[in-house]
Amino acid sequence: MFDNFPLWPDRASSLAGNVDALYIFLLIITALMTGLIFVAILYFAARYRAQPGVVAEQIEGSTPLELTWSIIPFFVFMAIFLAGAIVYFKGRTPPRDSTEVYVVAKQWMWKLEHAEGQREINELHVPVGRDIKLIMTSQDVIHSFYVPAFRMKQDVLPGRYTVAWFRATKPGTYHLFCAEYCGTQHSGMIGSIIVMEPAQYEAWTNGGTQGPLSVTGEKVFSELGCATCHRSDTQGRGPNLEGLFGKPVQLEDGRTVTADENYVRESILDPGAKVVRGFKPVMPTFQGLVSEEQLNALVAYVKSISKSGDGVMKAEAAAPANTKPAKAGDKASNKGSKVQ
Ligand code: CUA
Repeated sequence: MFDNFPLWPDRASSLAGNVDALYIFLLIITALMTGLIFVAILYFAARYRAQPGVVAEQIEGSTPLELTWSIIPFFVFMAIFLAGAIVYFKGRTPPRDSTEVYVVAKQWMWKLEHAEGQREINELHVPVGRDIKLIMTSQDVIHSFYVPAFRMKQDVLPGRYTVAWFRATKPGTYHLFCAEYCGTQHSGMIGSIIVMEPAQYEAWTNGGTQGPLSVTGEKVFSELGCATCHRSDTQGRGPNLEGLFGKPVQLEDGRTVTADENYVRESILDPGAKVVRGFKPVMPTFQGLVSEEQLNALVAYVKSISKSGDGVMKAEAAAPANTKPAKAGDKASNKGSKVQ
């Protein structure tokens, strides 16, 4: 229907229909109310116009009428809020087991790196029907990753990760825009999302790769000497990182945080910010020593050693549970009196 009259961009993601439905719902309510108000204005202007010899009758309010115009809009607005909240949470929550793609924005280009190792600039190839999670950061200023056909837009900030996701539903090539004014070439910071049939995508994937991102990360990890402290035998000066990702971490100051992408990133760049309980803040900062791409690779590596070899991890995860509580316990009771 919209082929010759494109009121809307393509609907090419699993969420696009929901966003459009909400938008159309808002349009209809707005149009209805606008029509109603205009009709009422015209009717009242004619019906109650000033006439010679007629004295206006004063009305002192009406409880049923006031209840009606309060209660009906209340339910209408709650419907808008609920529909909006549902679409928002769907759009904000990447499904488990999404395929991850790291995005680094800079003036004025998009650099994308697949978990399997393919790197792209201003282009992202994805298979149709797969959940894709974008883990994004910026090398300089604020940018915004905007794909109208997916009804998806997410700010990309320097110094932290933001996350977005989509599931493409239709093969094709779709516009990628930067939607945050970021400098003179902002309007040129454009690209394409190329959605392919799975078989086509497999063929594309097999052409040219530097190996998985996590393997690159492992190399960076050993080049920077991280392994001298973060040892898997728990005798290191830093916490063991195996099995860490996605788990809660107890900190020296009594807080508990989740080991997500931003936690790993912060711990590399600002190690003193969240010191793990039972450890000393002895780690130097790697601010300025690692590029955004290397950071992404390190995050991918830390993730990979939390996913693979479940059996090994459990055995090792059990060891610190036996040894640590004594240490952690002392500290907790020392601090406990002050904090609580
Ligand atoms: Cu990047 Cu606008």
